[in-house]
Amino acid sequence: MAEINLDWPNIGFAYRETPVRFVSDFVDGKWDEGRFSTDSNVTINESAGVLQYAQTCFEGLKAYRTEKGDIVCFRPDLNAARMAESCKRLCMPVFPVDRFIKAVVETVKRNADYVPPYGSGATLYVRPYMFATSPVLGVKPAVNYQFRIFVSPVGPYFKGGAKPVSIMVSDFDRAAPHGTGHVKAGLNYAMSLFAIEHAHELGFNENMYLDAATRTYVEETGGANFIFVTKDGKIVTPKSGTILPSITRRSLIYVAQNILKMDAEERPIPFEEVKTFAEAGLCGTAAVISPVGRVTYEGGVINFPSGMEKMGPVLQKLYDTLTGIQMGRIEGPEGWIVKVC
Ligand code: PLP
Ligand code: COI
Repeated sequence: MAEINLDWPNIGFAYRETPVRFVSDFVDGKWDEGRFSTDSNVTINESAGVLQYAQTCFEGLKAYRTEKGDIVCFRPDLNAARMAESCKRLCMPVFPVDRFIKAVVETVKRNADYVPPYGSGATLYVRPYMFATSPVLGVKPAVNYQFRIFVSPVGPYFKGGAKPVSIMVSDFDRAAPHGTGHVKAGLNYAMSLFAIEHAHELGFNENMYLDAATRTYVEETGGANFIFVTKDGKIVTPKSGTILPSITRRSLIYVAQNILKMDAEERPIPFEEVKTFAEAGLCGTAAVISPVGRVTYEGGVINFPSGMEKMGPVLQKLYDTLTGIQMGRIEGPEGWIVKVC
């Protein structure tokens, strides 16, 4: 059991400082051996590449306490690989995949008391990130970088836990058409803040992005991919080069096809088709599967048959299987679960 006693069901999705973080510096063309630090502050030059040209990217994964009391991480190799792609796209040095996984495991282990208890509804969010530390003035990559990992206990991403959310389609685009690519950093999270705040002001939980080039296909939200269920029970999820390749989505498709023996398909999804779906959800590390009950757009409102009270039955089955694997109730595919301690 965790020794830290927070009001686990109500901690929300927020930063909570924990004692230890991992820090490694890239200087003179190589990564140092790294260290564990109790200092949660970062001091950098006023002209650091991250401050001037936003040369930074991040990852997100979770550590779980299993039914047996172990602490495990879910597929950290995929976060390492995706971060490597982000770094290349941003002209940043790659932090080696094996060192990434080891650093995640060690950082979680050193904060083990902050991994919420099994069944509490909370988990430990793990945030690896990298940023340019050395000064630049002309538009060019920096020379020095820092890679860090902090952890924070978190509850559900949306207030109300598993209650369906209501989302809107706004006029705002996050990525330019054919723009900054599919790497996580390329999605430019700062550009998504205005659309999310706008949706909140109008009483919605989130904003759905359409593709910026034609505004006719479903993309994703500011922090999650979409997953839909057709009226005949098939799983469909948008295929697009300008959304984040969600590890949760990829895992859910695998679970659907190989464990639940359901039809699951990744393909472009015209917004026009959304009104025909039986269930809709947002999927991601933070969102897990958060059901969507309603989508409001310029032309009207789509109310999914699954309603605003609870998750629909098909997404619930997927949710139970995925979280069952993460919490050690169901044996997952080889390599998905990495034991911390
Ligand atoms: N889309 C965006 C924009 C995200 O920030 C996230 C969260 O990381 C996701 C999708 C879901 O990705 P994953 O399942 O890898 O957490
Ligand atoms: C995640 O699910 O890890 C995300 O990155 C979503 C959000 C917190 C940005």
